[in-house]
Amino acid sequence: MHPAIEVRDLVKKYRIRVRGLLRRRYEEIEALRGLSFKVDYGEVYGLLGPNGAGKTTAVKIISTLLLPDSGEAFVCGYSSIREPYKVRECLGVMLSVERGFFWKLTGIENLRYFGTLYGIPRGELEERIRMAAELTGLYEVGADQRRFEDMSLGMKARLALARALLRDPRVLVLDEPTLGLDPPSARRIRSLVKELAGKGRGILLTTHNMFEAEMVCDRIGIIVKGRIVAEGTPGELKARVKGKSSVVVLLRGPRERVEVIADAARSELGVSASLTDEASTGHHRLRLVCDPESTGRVSAWIVEKAFTLGVRVVEWRVEEPTLEDVFVEVAGRA
Ligand SMILES: Nc1ncnc2c1ncn2[C@@H]1O[C@H](COP(=O)(O)OP(=O)(O)OP(=O)(O)O)[C@@H](O)[C@H]1O
Ligand SMILES: [Mg+2]
Repeated sequence: MHPAIEVRDLVKKYRIRVRGLLRRRYEEIEALRGLSFKVDYGEVYGLLGPNGAGKTTAVKIISTLLLPDSGEAFVCGYSSIREPYKVRECLGVMLSVERGFFWKLTGIENLRYFGTLYGIPRGELEERIRMAAELTGLYEVGADQRRFEDMSLGMKARLALARALLRDPRVLVLDEPTLGLDPPSARRIRSLVKELAGKGRGILLTTHNMFEAEMVCDRIGIIVKGRIVAEGTPGELKARVKGKSSVVVLLRGPRERVEVIADAARSELGVSASLTDEASTGHHRLRLVCDPESTGRVSAWIVEKAFTLGVRVVEWRVEEPTLEDVFVEVAGRA
């Protein structure tokens, strides 16, 4: 039997116009550089990667919305490139939540419009809408009767998922389905995703949230710069950092200087390092993966480096390895 989704050697370059000093120049961005993976029926496969890794580009190619430069994408055995109509019949897609709905129509009216567009027979339509709305909890939050423009982000997400489920598809592709949602709404969507996979659907989900990937996904492919750099079940991936420790340091200071510290840690200490910004506090979080016996040396080195560069160490701790460390290990060197 065909896998639910199969992607082979996808390559996609975007040409963007950049303003030069005298005239316009063109620059090429390699969004996908030989992306390959498979998703089976009954499993949730998570494409986990940082901003700009190529997740949305991959999702768009699989969903027939974008053509690759080379490579193949199949859904239910049909080619997304040569048989887009076949693919659309067995695929439900949830892309960016805000797009493609009618702002003046209610949730149910939107679903009715898209159901008709998808060619669902009139006799079945209302029942399909009811099922999709019930599964996603549209009625509970009142999103069925509310106009799209008046909905909260959580309601819009439920509606977008309901639309993806209208045709009762065997395969689902969800691009960051919980982005920006509050914990209860995110939880609701995650449990529905698991439930659908339990019923035999093949589901591809993209996320940059490691906690989410670990909770929902049966298998995870870590995507960095348009390529899978590690793949496996959450357990298999975590085994890669077994016996390692991570030093987590919260720093306060100009980002450029914090980047200097991260780069120096990679080159001078030979450890993997990843840097994230905490929007709420303005702190920078540096995570370094090293052998347990080196944590003391690594910590002392960081404190001294930070002091030299005039960056403040706000907090410091050593943690057990998590999925995030696998990410740091494979992506932090890239
Ligand atoms: N329409 C476009 N034109 C030009 N460049 C693009 C276009 N869409 C994406 N890119 C570039 O391609 C790369 C991959 O983008 P993509 O949106 O696929 O990443 P992503 O993993 O979905 O990121 P995010 O987590 O931010 O959603 C990025 O460098 C992005 O700037
Ligand atoms: Mg994206």
